[in-house]
Amino acid sequence: MPSTLTAPRRPGAARFNSIRHLVGHTPLLAIHFTYRDRRRVIYAKAEHLNLTGSIKDRMALFILQQAYEQGTIKPGDKIVEATSGNTGIAFSAIGRALGHPVTIFMPDWMSRERVELIRSLGAHIRPVTREQGGFLGSIRLTEELAADEENIFLPRQFANDANVQAHARSTGPEIWWQLDAAGLRPDAFVAGVGTGGTVMGVGQYLRSQRPDIRIHPMEPAESPTMSTGHKVGHHRIQGISDEFVPAILELGQLDEIIQVNDGDSILMAQKLSMQLGLGLGISSGANFLAALKVQEQLGADAVVVTVFADDNKKYLTTDLLREEPVKAGYLSPKIELLGYEAHKRICQACGDFAGGEASP
Ligand SMILES: Cc1ncc(COP(=O)(O)O)c(C=O)c1O
Repeated sequence: MPSTLTAPRRPGAARFNSIRHLVGHTPLLAIHFTYRDRRRVIYAKAEHLNLTGSIKDRMALFILQQAYEQGTIKPGDKIVEATSGNTGIAFSAIGRALGHPVTIFMPDWMSRERVELIRSLGAHIRPVTREQGGFLGSIRLTEELAADEENIFLPRQFANDANVQAHARSTGPEIWWQLDAAGLRPDAFVAGVGTGGTVMGVGQYLRSQRPDIRIHPMEPAESPTMSTGHKVGHHRIQGISDEFVPAILELGQLDEIIQVNDGDSILMAQKLSMQLGLGLGISSGANFLAALKVQEQLGADAVVVTVFADDNKKYLTTDLLREEPVKAGYLSPKIELLGYEAHKRICQACGDFAGGEASP
């Protein structure tokens, strides 16, 4: 794959290259802790350090870059997406950086910080009520708008293979390279499923390097959409397990679904924040616990990797900042965090995406 620095550039490619410096190439954290009196390590990509504070920047940047390369978006087109939050923030920031108007359809019960952040980035919000269909209604409304109006670009994150490729070409190779630099090979990768882009894309790359690696999707025990095939119950791990099984998620290619309690995830995220100073969102606590469950299956020395998908700033008015009761069966009370090491070496060959020829 040619380097972005030497590839021929059409006018505007410099803008993509600049944004790319703010997305991806995140440190890999080795979190040291004890569980059942045994010292252990879980590895997590610090995705909260991306431009807008979440892993979704990778997908938004790659989808827009690929759309320019394929000619499915033109300068000035309106970007319209349905999202429960992080994707909207990512498309707002990157879309505005490329000069596009952005409209985000989102369920009206998402945290206030998410709504205000999207507005602060110059995007227009269209709140969707439960009566209008909530999350599925948001997706339907974007399609209706695109059918009615000209010059609209729909990223379609739940169905667009570029979402998977963003992670197959950047997150996955970065994990492999950063572990390799530490003399390690991953035994398993686990990630909560929103669109499924992360688990499918990282899984695709890591499997190409190590075919017997285990790749696990994670869902909230209170609302197991993947296990049941449809929406059941309510949960508090915003960003994952929406109301349906996404089109890009191929469960047949993945290992067993791991379930985690939302209260346990909140307690774990609070612990990572208060004891290690890592200000993370609820799904990061959930991913850590899911990684520990997989490590319990494989052995305490297994190299299990996950992602810290976003930071805590979008959750300041949620249960993340409230006292959470401990319930029987929770894992977080038995975890004693000891500290972390951050592997910051940058993989120059990772994340070149499609060669940097895009032009806004
Ligand atoms: C906080 C958070 N964690 C995890 C995910 C899941 O990522 P993916 O959509 O790649 O499955 C998302 C997706 O929006 C998210 O917002």
